[in-house]
Amino acid sequence: MSLLLQSCSSSLQSSNTIECRPPLALAPMVGLSHSAFRILVLELGGVGLFFSEMLSAGRLPIENETVSPFLCRTPAESPFIYQIFTGPGQDILPAVDRLHLLNAQGIDLNLGCPAPALRKQGAGSFMPLESIKKVVADIRAATHLPISAKIRLGRTLDANSLISFCKMLEDEGIDLLTVHARLQGEKFCRKARWDWIGKVKRAVRVPIIANGGIFSVEDARTCLDQSGADGLMLGRGAIKKPWLFADIAERVYGVQQNRANEPDLRKIYFRFIELLEDRFLPERRLGRLKQFTYYFAENFRFGHHLASGVQNSKSLEKAGDRAAQFFDAVERSNESIRA
Ligand SMILES: Cc1cc2nc3c(=O)[nH]c(=O)nc-3n(C[C@H](O)[C@H](O)[C@H](O)COP(=O)(O)O)c2cc1C
Repeated sequence: MSLLLQSCSSSLQSSNTIECRPPLALAPMVGLSHSAFRILVLELGGVGLFFSEMLSAGRLPIENETVSPFLCRTPAESPFIYQIFTGPGQDILPAVDRLHLLNAQGIDLNLGCPAPALRKQGAGSFMPLESIKKVVADIRAATHLPISAKIRLGRTLDANSLISFCKMLEDEGIDLLTVHARLQGEKFCRKARWDWIGKVKRAVRVPIIANGGIFSVEDARTCLDQSGADGLMLGRGAIKKPWLFADIAERVYGVQQNRANEPDLRKIYFRFIELLEDRFLPERRLGRLKQFTYYFAENFRFGHHLASGVQNSKSLEKAGDRAAQFFDAVERSNESIRA
């Protein structure tokens, strides 16, 4: 089972097509969707597509690839779509040129993020309609790569305006849409409206990736049933359970994974620390471990001990020691993983 993502750019080149097999994507997440985590999920299997965390189109051309934690990437982290955000009036072309030099396989425009930092710039979900049209048209004219957009359902629940918005994106040359099934102002704890993704799916021709609130194989099945989406994007669920891609790949898409039955959480945690050490400069590691641990700790009944122990650590070594003590205690108590 795979998702073939083809650029609608008129000039045909081999770089126009991405095959995502299985159609399971890692969501763009600031501080979480980075090279170390991508390698971790690659090792655990089941992931078919990567999105970078959001990158400022203004800063991208001057970002130093050799030291930037946002740009470091190995060839194995593929297929790879860089996500950018931009505000009205920003010249997008230097960013697109840079993405070509970085061997991007696709370009994603963030149109869904409601963060206050983006509001100030009129970016993400605050971008005015006319600016969105122009920026998509500008990117389309500048690249043969597939272009995608990540959106939410809008400011209020309104099927007509949601559909006309998505059709506009399609008309301007978008090749893929990711729909996060929440409204602009809704918090992540709110139940995702997967049936609303179905409304978009039935109205447009481009492939749709469904996102929001997928934390288990059962969620993946229900989301696909309700949305009819062509693929799924996992965010926090993948951070909490980096093996969730493999579970969904196997049990929903029938893509056999070569792995042990039960994930070894201790091994996964320390492998992640190793990967942080391998991929990032020392000063970039601890913050990323803390962010990861916040979600990973939810696997345990007393996970707040792991989260707070790591959160209060001043060095990666200290965090590793505290995590080891936590896992020792878990093994002594024979605690099983929480669902
Ligand atoms: C810590 C964090 C950072 C995020 N950063 C981004 C981002 O850079 N770009 C974006 O489009 N969405 C971002 N999101 C939203 C996710 O991509 C995703 O849409 C959201 O978490 C819902 O999916 P989930 O329920 O599977 O987590 C972020 C979410 C979280 C929790």
